[in-house]
Amino acid sequence: MTTVIKNGTIVTADLTYKADVLIEGGQIIEIGRDLKGDETLDATDCFVMPGGIDPHTHLEMPFMGTYSADDFESGTRAALAGGTTMVVDFALPAPGEGLLDALKKWDNKSTRAHCDYSFHMAITWWDKQVFDEMKAVTERGINTFKHFLAYKGALMVNDDELYSSFKRCAELGAIPLVHAENGDVVAELSAKLLADGNNGPEGHAYSRPPQVEGEATNRAIMIADMAGVPLYVVHTSCEESHEAIRRAKLAGKRVWGEPLIQHLTLDESEYFDKDWDHAARRVMSPPFRNKQHQDSLWNGLSSGTLSCVATDHCAFTTDQKRYGVGDFTKIPNGTGGLEDRLPMLWTYGVGTGRLTPNEFVAVTSTNIAKILNIYPKKGAVLVGADADLVVWDPKASKVISAKDQQSAIDYNVFEGKEVTGLPRYTLSRGVVAWADGKIQTKEGHGQFVPREAGTPVTKALSTWKELTAPRPIQRSGIPASGV
Ligand code: URP
Ligand code: ZN
Ligand code: ZN
Ligand code: ZN
Repeated sequence: MTTVIKNGTIVTADLTYKADVLIEGGQIIEIGRDLKGDETLDATDCFVMPGGIDPHTHLEMPFMGTYSADDFESGTRAALAGGTTMVVDFALPAPGEGLLDALKKWDNKSTRAHCDYSFHMAITWWDKQVFDEMKAVTERGINTFKHFLAYKGALMVNDDELYSSFKRCAELGAIPLVHAENGDVVAELSAKLLADGNNGPEGHAYSRPPQVEGEATNRAIMIADMAGVPLYVVHTSCEESHEAIRRAKLAGKRVWGEPLIQHLTLDESEYFDKDWDHAARRVMSPPFRNKQHQDSLWNGLSSGTLSCVATDHCAFTTDQKRYGVGDFTKIPNGTGGLEDRLPMLWTYGVGTGRLTPNEFVAVTSTNIAKILNIYPKKGAVLVGADADLVVWDPKASKVISAKDQQSAIDYNVFEGKEVTGLPRYTLSRGVVAWADGKIQTKEGHGQFVPREAGTPVTKALSTWKELTAPRPIQRSGIPASGV
């Protein structure tokens, strides 16, 4: 059984050209003119692009006394409806829990996925067991380890633990990820705000100014450099953090920054809304910022100093958000976005001329596939690649509304935004997963995508670090000891 996508224009991270795509056995087997297949998908007036890869989701995540409301079933449905064909979720050991035990839980949750997925492993505590199990985790095909510098008393790790884990990543050829906010300062600011009667959701934004992010980003970058390992900074939201990443890149350090679609398109005024629910629904860390920070993020994407656009999809219902009435520190942190990432980025990025269609593909799919060492299986339109594709209609439009969404929550932070540019078809390993405005796959179609350690960048960096490592100077005529 073959499928052909006909009459479209292929858009990859570096090329735009007219061709048909022939698919068999879940992979692309031919790209060319006038191809024929058993089944035909019409891509007239459409772009054929690699499906989106969202490198940052939290599906059914235990967090702040509850679980995020979208699980692998509803979350991956939302992904496919929005043109995303792979998600990378975070396996999150509770402090004291083994990494492999946590991994088993994520293996179980993900059996219901509609699209392909992979995991990052979080390092939430540190001792010999964690050190040892990191190797077993990389052997299971997980080459990324996440560290929280925020969430004091819960997920946060200290600098000595961070340095130890970064060194272990360097040995294993793995890449550390960091949530960069200074958790100690956030805790102090939060306590002061509450004491002064600032207990509403706007307190969340006041407690996490750009400085806490800039400081932590710079600290993590410097610690990674000393440990001899690359660094991926998740949810970069402000100029201070972007500046640290930019400076590091220009100094030859291997650092990547990941803005979220929420930070690119929603600003801090959301927290000053008179409606408590409206503001609380948008509470996430880091918080939304002002226009100058948004401009910085957009400029980072077009200049290449920022690399990937993610969602950090971590959706909580209004009822869950209300755990924090009277105390903003108890509002579960997180927002949704899986279904909206590509349409919002196309509309506000390509539609405004801030991004080219090729840059759009780079920051939604190809760059992260390369960083995670799964390119060109994912993130490519090439013979031999997985047929994870989106047939993108740049003229189709809709108004985003919670009533039409796949996500399980009762609102959408992008409610009312008109987007132009939507998937006509989304294909997951050659199977039509989204067509005619409906999900066509069955749960469980998604497969785990293993990712090998020893990526091109970790190899290059360890070669450089070895070459420039401290070495004793060979001297002749060493004087006698002065003692
Ligand atoms: O507020 C957020 N970002 N919630 C999800 C967990 C995290 O920090 O990524
Ligand atoms: Zn985070
Ligand atoms: Zn509202
Ligand atoms: Zn996150």
